Amino acid sequence: MFRLYINPQHKKGHINKELQGHFSEHLGRCIYEGIYVGENSPVPNTNGMRNDVVEALREMQIPVLRWPGGCFADEYHWMDGIGPKESRKRMINTHWGGVLEDNSFGTHEFMELCRQLGCKAYVNGNVGSGTVREMSEWVEYMTFDGVSPMADLRKANGRKEPYTVDYFGVGNESWGCGGNMLPEYYANEYRRYQTYVRVYSAERPIYKIACGPSEGDYGWTETLMRMAGGYMDGLSLHYYTVPGNWEKKGSATEFDEAEWYKTLRKTLYMDELISRHSAIMDKYDKEKRVGLIVDEWGTWYDCEPGTNPGFLYQQNSMRDALVAGINLNIFNKHCDRVKMANIAQLVNVLQAVILTEGDRMLLTPTYHVFNMYKHHQEGELLDSYVETEETGVEEDKVPNLQESVSMDKDGHIHITINNLSASEAYEVEPVLAQAVVKEVKGTILTGSMRDHNTFDEPERVQSKEFTDYSLKDGRLTFKLPACSVLHLEIGV
Ligand code: AHR
Repeated sequence: MFRLYINPQHKKGHINKELQGHFSEHLGRCIYEGIYVGENSPVPNTNGMRNDVVEALREMQIPVLRWPGGCFADEYHWMDGIGPKESRKRMINTHWGGVLEDNSFGTHEFMELCRQLGCKAYVNGNVGSGTVREMSEWVEYMTFDGVSPMADLRKANGRKEPYTVDYFGVGNESWGCGGNMLPEYYANEYRRYQTYVRVYSAERPIYKIACGPSEGDYGWTETLMRMAGGYMDGLSLHYYTVPGNWEKKGSATEFDEAEWYKTLRKTLYMDELISRHSAIMDKYDKEKRVGLIVDEWGTWYDCEPGTNPGFLYQQNSMRDALVAGINLNIFNKHCDRVKMANIAQLVNVLQAVILTEGDRMLLTPTYHVFNMYKHHQEGELLDSYVETEETGVEEDKVPNLQESVSMDKDGHIHITINNLSASEAYEVEPVLAQAVVKEVKGTILTGSMRDHNTFDEPERVQSKEFTDYSLKDGRLTFKLPACSVLHLEIGV
C-alpha cells in the first residue's frame, strides 16, 4: 500500500488555468487543415474554423493559445495576413515543409479562433527578422482604441473594437531559429523592442514575455534576469522530451519498455529544470513577480513514416498520456513560479491533443489527460506527498507514482495521480490531515503502453469512470492499474 498524504489546510499557491495552455504554429497541418479550413470548405466550419475541433477544445476548457510560432514567428510579417484574402501575399513556408503559405489565416482569424474557443490570446512577435516599428505597429493595430493609422487600418479591415492581447512574446528561441543571438545581445534587444509594445489601456494590460532558455542553459536565464528582469512579466523555457537524440528521436508507437522508462525519466527532468531556473530567478526577483512560462513542451519523435518531415506529424500513445500527466503535475507543484505552459502543438503537430484526416478528427490520449486535469484550473495547490518505490530498467529508473492535488473554489479536492509502471498495479491510500473523505468520483485513462487511437479505431483509448476504490468509515483506498492517469474528486 502506498500512502498519499494530503494536507487540505496547507494551500501552497494558485494554479493559473494557463498552466494548461496550448500552442499553434504555421507548421504542417496545425493551422491549415487542422484548425482552419476556410469558409467554403465542405468540412463543417464557422467562419472557417472546424466545428469539430473547436467543440472538442471548448470541452477541454482550453485556457490560452499561442500563435503564430515558434520559429515561424520570427519570419512572420503580420501585414501579410490582413486585408482581403485574395490580395494577401502568397509565399513559401521555407522553415516548415516548403509548402504554400497563402496568409489566409492572419491576425483577425486568430482572434476569431480565440473568440470561438473562449480562450486568451498569446501572440508571439518577430524580433529575428522584424523591426521595432513592425512589432509596435502590430500591437497598435490589435489593441489601440482611438484614432491612429493602425487602429484605422484595423477598422477598415472590418474590426471596430480593439482586440485583447493577453500575452505578447518578444521573439522566440532568439538563441537559435529566432536570430542566433547571444544572451547579452538579446537582453538589450528585448529591452528595446518591449519599450514599444505599448499598453494602451489599463483594462487590457499586455503580459510581456522575454525569450528564455533552452533546457538547461542557466547562463541565459542569469543574463536575462540580470540585464532585463525589470522589463519583463514572464521568461519562457522550452524543453521537449526526446526519447533518443535529435538525429534519431525514436518512433511514436514502436517502442519497448526500456524506451518507455527512458521517455518518462527524461520527462521528469522538467522538475529539475524548473527548480534550477527558478532558483536563478529568485536571486533577482524574490517576490516571484516574473513568471516562468514553459511555452513549448511535449514529446518529439521521428515523424510518421511517409509524411513530410517538415510537418512534424506524429502519433500519440499512452506514453504521451503519461508525459502529459507528469508535466502537468510538475507545473502544478511549481505554480508559485510557473504562470503559463503551452504544449506543442495543438493539432497534427508533435504532441497534439487532436489529429485530423480530411473531415475526420480523433482525440489523442493526451487530449483525455487535459480533459481530466481541467479540474485543477484556478484551484489552490495543496501540500501533498506520495510514497513511492523505484521502477524501470537499468539507468532509466523512475518513481512508480507521481501526483498533484488541488482544492477548487467549492472545497472539493482534486487528485491527479500517475502510475508510471508499464506492468505493475499499485494499491494507494490517500491520508487527509484533519478531514474525512465523504464522497469520491473518478475518471481513469489506462491501457497498454503503446495503445493509441487511429482513424480506423478512434476510441481505442478513452477515459472512463473509475470505480475500483473502496470507501469505508472515511478510509479511501484504490487500485491504480499499470500505465494509467487517474483523476479523483473528493468531497470532505
Ligand atoms: O514546436 C516546433 C518548434 O520547436 C518551434 O517552432 C520552435 O520554437 C522549437 O524549436
